[in-house]
Amino acid sequence: MYQEMKLPYAYDDLEPYIDTRTMGLHYGKHYHKYLDQLNKLLKKNNYKNEYSKEALVTHLDMFPIGDRGAILYNLGGVLNHELYFLNMSPKKENQPIGALLEAINNQYGNYENFRQQFLETASYLVGSGYTFLVLNKNKKLEIINLSNQETPYLYELVPLIALDLWEHAYYLNYQNERDRYMKNFFEIINFEQINALYEKAIS
Ligand SMILES: [Fe+2]
Repeated sequence: MYQEMKLPYAYDDLEPYIDTRTMGLHYGKHYHKYLDQLNKLLKKNNYKNEYSKEALVTHLDMFPIGDRGAILYNLGGVLNHELYFLNMSPKKENQPIGALLEAINNQYGNYENFRQQFLETASYLVGSGYTFLVLNKNKKLEIINLSNQETPYLYELVPLIALDLWEHAYYLNYQNERDRYMKNFFEIINFEQINALYEKAIS
């Protein structure tokens, strides 16, 4: 059983980029549904919290095969949403810093190139899913798309940025203008948190 992650800002703090109603539904309903369903499945299987959520992704063989798919789906839903929510901040820490800035400059030339590549990758995602910035086993950055609630941890990738591209993330405010939502994510992105994740992942 896992505890909910408290949102470190109010539902209206990310206005006008993320509207209050979307934030309330996304955190209060969508995220909590994944968490509740995950906890129900874990309780049913007498899970004793042996692992962190991240580590549980690669230890699903402790559960009966019939439950593994549903556990993975809901666990991914929890992990992906927690990262997405923490990736945003009303503080406007929207320029990369520290070791992450160096890695972005090394691999992508500069931040603007990186941002354009991220947005281009995101534009290729069809259906529901996420665009992620991940750190691979060789400690290099990669920008990838995954469908539904797949989590990068399943592929031994450490996610640093998760951009939620399910319609529930933007539709009330942006309707069909997904590109505008994607661009606006970079106005409220929290590079202080993302750099901290990066520094932990490379150490
Ligand atoms: Fe979502």
